[in-house]
Amino acid sequence: MKRFFPVYVRVPLIFFTCYGLLEYFIDSGDKPAIIAYPSVMLLLALVLLVIIALEIVASASNNIINQLMTPEERAEKERLENLPISQIPFVKNLLQKLTKTKPITSEKEIELDHDYDGIKELDNDLPPWWVYLFYATIIFSVIYLGKYHLFGGDNQFQELEKELAIAQKDIEEYKKTAPDLLTADKVILLTDAGDIAAGKAIYDANCVACHRADGGGGIGPNLADEYWILGGDVKEIFNTIMEGGRDGKGMVAWKQQIKPSDIQKVSSYILSLQGKNPADGKAPEGDKVTNNPASTTVATDSLAVKQASAPDA
Ligand code: HEC
Repeated sequence: MKRFFPVYVRVPLIFFTCYGLLEYFIDSGDKPAIIAYPSVMLLLALVLLVIIALEIVASASNNIINQLMTPEERAEKERLENLPISQIPFVKNLLQKLTKTKPITSEKEIELDHDYDGIKELDNDLPPWWVYLFYATIIFSVIYLGKYHLFGGDNQFQELEKELAIAQKDIEEYKKTAPDLLTADKVILLTDAGDIAAGKAIYDANCVACHRADGGGGIGPNLADEYWILGGDVKEIFNTIMEGGRDGKGMVAWKQQIKPSDIQKVSSYILSLQGKNPADGKAPEGDKVTNNPASTTVATDSLAVKQASAPDA
């Protein structure tokens, strides 16, 4: 074996096999296991050390054995090491077992009586490798027949259908959390109680520090009054939250943290605060928007009307 795998092949081969197995069996998320867990790196280093140590011990003991051998023994060992592959005893035996060839010297034993104008025929056994393969196909066919024809295993079309159904489910699952392609021009005011509640949850989690829980305002402006610095239409509010306020004012763009459909919900929630008049709310800032979208409850087609948000003089 050493002949085919010299030490500079053997050591990396064993090492990378260990590495591959560790990576395969340790669940480490996106990162490679050796980076995610320093202990894995230590373990690999240990493995490498052990392999190298074993190699050193093996070659040292080999040297000692060589020195203890008589010259004849050494010559015999060398002869064995330099045999062509097919003459190595293990390989030779294996080939004989798989082919059961008769040596030319004993061919007479299996010669058939026929003589076709001097051409003779040998009655060789079927080579065992072929026979085993044949048995294997028989076993395979029995299993196949049982699974697909007796016990109703799925055929390829059924398999495809099942996989498509799973893929469809995955897509729906993905869509639940994936960023969506909602843009300001498609945003409409949501009035569904569930959407408003979802918007409130997002608001409570991200916005209360500056706008207060009731929208009365603090660092950020009052969101419950009719005055808007950056526009009070649902599309404008959506845009403000997506892209942030004016430079240096403290309102960051949220599009990296909150996906557009959720920003639509929080915008709708904010507009649902209109007219709630929170106690000691911040003084109005910006322009008055009278044609307030929250006053219309029809979601879809009321938008055209809402566009005309005239600032109060
Ligand atoms: C760090 C404080 C801070 C946080 C957190 C914050 N805002 Fe603001 N927000 C502000 C400031 C300051 C302004 C005013 C921006 C300007 O003047 O340009 C503002 C403006 C706004 C406006 C426009 C108001 C107007 O009058 O036009 C909306 C709508 C708004 N914020 C919604 C939100 C929402 C929704 C969240 C949570 C996702 C949020 N804000 C989180 C500070 C904040």
